[in-house]
Amino acid sequence: MQTVNAVITGVGGYVPDYILTNDEISKMVDTTDEWIMGRIGIKERRILREEGLGTSYMARKAAKQLMQRTQTNPDDIDLVIVATTTPDYRLPSTSSILCDKLKLKNAFAFDVQAVCSGFLYALETGANFIRSGRYKKIIVIGADKMSSITNYTDRATCPIFADGAAAFMLEPTTENIGIMDSVLKTDGKGLPFLHIKAGGSVCASSYYTLDNHLHYVYQEGRTVFKYAVANMSDACEALIARNNLSKEDIDWVIPHQANQRIISAVTQRLEVPTEKVMVNIERYGNTSAGTLPLCIWDFENKLKKGDNLIFTAFGAGFAWGAVYVKWGYDGSHSSQQTD
Ligand code: UT7
Repeated sequence: MQTVNAVITGVGGYVPDYILTNDEISKMVDTTDEWIMGRIGIKERRILREEGLGTSYMARKAAKQLMQRTQTNPDDIDLVIVATTTPDYRLPSTSSILCDKLKLKNAFAFDVQAVCSGFLYALETGANFIRSGRYKKIIVIGADKMSSITNYTDRATCPIFADGAAAFMLEPTTENIGIMDSVLKTDGKGLPFLHIKAGGSVCASSYYTLDNHLHYVYQEGRTVFKYAVANMSDACEALIARNNLSKEDIDWVIPHQANQRIISAVTQRLEVPTEKVMVNIERYGNTSAGTLPLCIWDFENKLKKGDNLIFTAFGAGFAWGAVYVKWGYDGSHSSQQTD
């Protein structure tokens, strides 16, 4: 019997129209465009400002574009996995809302919570459902409305985060392409350095938590930075060694877009030239689970069938990892032009 693997057969994405610039942020907190560009590398970010719209709105837009581009009948979708830290509601899952909005009649759906590494975890999870042989079309989405958990009076975090979503279609293949391997890690040691203090079961919402701004992301950036560089680099190196890839074999590195200096440090350690590294942090900021698929959405027309891609991310938990993908189609021939 031939081995079945999961291949990415399309990408869709969505970013909100509203552009929050560094100049505007400088009016909210004591910061400057120079500081944000120099220390983080973000010039502007997209924010979903319309009242009553949450993560599922962006995820739905991304998934709709994906289904159009791949000419997929909604009845054929078996599974939807949404990686998100900012679900529409505490319950039900954001993915269940999508099943209704996208009119999926034959799908089941669940969310994955691994913060900035959520998309890596969701991708490997989706690939395993395909490899099982029982599922033929799976939508994997990374989507976050980080503006809903960002404190716009805290200069240490508010320039970083942004809103956006993107989606991949996974399908079976017997060719030597697709999701080839992954190194996924979680150590739980990151809790003190990156978390939201209230709104969970340890510290439920109250007037006290609201008055004290405890529903926003808390981050000790310097510590997170060090772990991010070391752990992303180690995960990539382990993956590259395990798959006998030389530096020259790597066509693209797709790093989590948290900080340009982190991206540079990791890719320098891997000795990958900058022109092989997908970067859009300057325009989109850190959309958490959205960053990796949004990079592919942006760079799709540069990709060729068989290209070797290394995705890597790091975030709260700590949770991190790297996924090796052999790309499934020529991006320049994709249906992107039809939108
Ligand atoms: O995506 C999930 C994972 N997260 C990450 O990967 C984020 C990792 N960390 C980072 O990207 C960086 O640590 C930050 C961008 C968050 C911060 O940059 P940094 O270079 O590590 O700055 P810092 O926190 O060490 O702060 C240096 C100085 C401080 O002033 P003092 O104490 O030296 O006087 C801060 O108060 O910069 C100050 N500062 C700012 N100044 C102007 C912090 N934020 C700002 C700001 N504008 N927005």
